[in-house]
Amino acid sequence: MRVKSIRLKNFRNYEQAVIEPGEGVTVFTGPNAQGKTNVLEALHLCCLGRSHRTPRDEELIRWGENAAKVNILTAQQDGTHEVTILLDKTQKKKKTVRIGSRQAERIGELFGHVCGVLFSPEDLQIVKSGPSERRRFIDMQLSQLRPAYFYALQRAVKTLGQRNALLKEIARNPSLAKTLDLWDEQLADCGAVIAQNRREAIERLSAYAASAHASLTDGRETLRLWYISQAADSENPKERLLERLHAARSEDLRRMTTSVGIHRDDIGIAIDGREARTFASQGQQRSAVLALKLAQLELAWQERGEAPILMLDDVMSELDPGRRRQLIERIDRVQTFVTCTDLSDLAGARQDAVYYVRSGTLST
Ligand SMILES: Nc1ncnc2c1ncn2[C@@H]1O[C@H](COP(=O)(O)OP(=O)(O)OP(=O)(O)O)[C@@H](O)[C@H]1O
Ligand SMILES: [Mg+2]
Repeated sequence: MRVKSIRLKNFRNYEQAVIEPGEGVTVFTGPNAQGKTNVLEALHLCCLGRSHRTPRDEELIRWGENAAKVNILTAQQDGTHEVTILLDKTQKKKKTVRIGSRQAERIGELFGHVCGVLFSPEDLQIVKSGPSERRRFIDMQLSQLRPAYFYALQRAVKTLGQRNALLKEIARNPSLAKTLDLWDEQLADCGAVIAQNRREAIERLSAYAASAHASLTDGRETLRLWYISQAADSENPKERLLERLHAARSEDLRRMTTSVGIHRDDIGIAIDGREARTFASQGQQRSAVLALKLAQLELAWQERGEAPILMLDDVMSELDPGRRRQLIERIDRVQTFVTCTDLSDLAGARQDAVYYVRSGTLST
């Protein structure tokens, strides 16, 4: 896949910008707080319908304005795709997605028209932080590749909210307890779709990441990922989830919250058999996260049959020369967008086009 153009209007600190990237590496460089990451954020918005930095769309609208627009054209094996996202805080519908000239009814229709992998310094949290960061990592990846996953996830979040509300309601009105069966059934139903996808994808990511990590460490260390779930050890995840929900019911009623389900999943990450989160050094954690990102790229590539775009937000400066070389090798094969404050961080990497970024303006 190749991005042919990015058009921004009143997006973050850009009043108006047009970028027509080539096939190779497009670099955005400049001092801090000028708008480099904002460009990657616009790309991410078109990949997934949301920013990677904030859940609040109105923050993306240029201060003092009511509406923002991002338009991206991509060339893919099957032709040209166009995505437009309009954010308007004065409208009832605050976010509108258009595919070509057609307005999408559901956000899931967006996925696949722009497909990318973003790597930023905060991604270290995938290894370092708690389970929610790792769930977010797998959810973003799979939503983008598999709309059915995204819809199941949306349904799971909604159902979980409803079940939790019902648990509170039952505390006041115990006769409602019998309606829990209905929610358990629904929760187990979408939970099973999510669990099956997560398990299969994590297995594949583990293989890709292990091989990337082996070359990063010259074969000295072994990286392994595995799926941790209340439904993981079962051939029939729906039945398993239902059993667990039933077993936990009295506890859930007492605590007025749902203790079983895919919202409790995690991804195990181990280096040489030891949990990376607790035992790995800072440098080892960095290698693990780089391997994860390369695995993500590989998975998207395999699944779609064409390369996704790669977005690197200020990560080169944090990598040592060996890891940088590994990343640069991959860059050579996909269209890449890189930000850096200092061009010397990219020594040895292709720089097909360089944009200098100064308070929301781009110059070449
Ligand atoms: N809605 C908005 N309207 C106008 N300006 C905004 C808006 N949101 C953020 N900004 C400005 O955008 C700038 C941040 O842009 P960005 O995050 O792209 O910086 P950067 O060039 O990547 O910097 P760094 O090198 O520090 O990562 C800040 O100066 C911020 O004040
Ligand atoms: Mg930045």
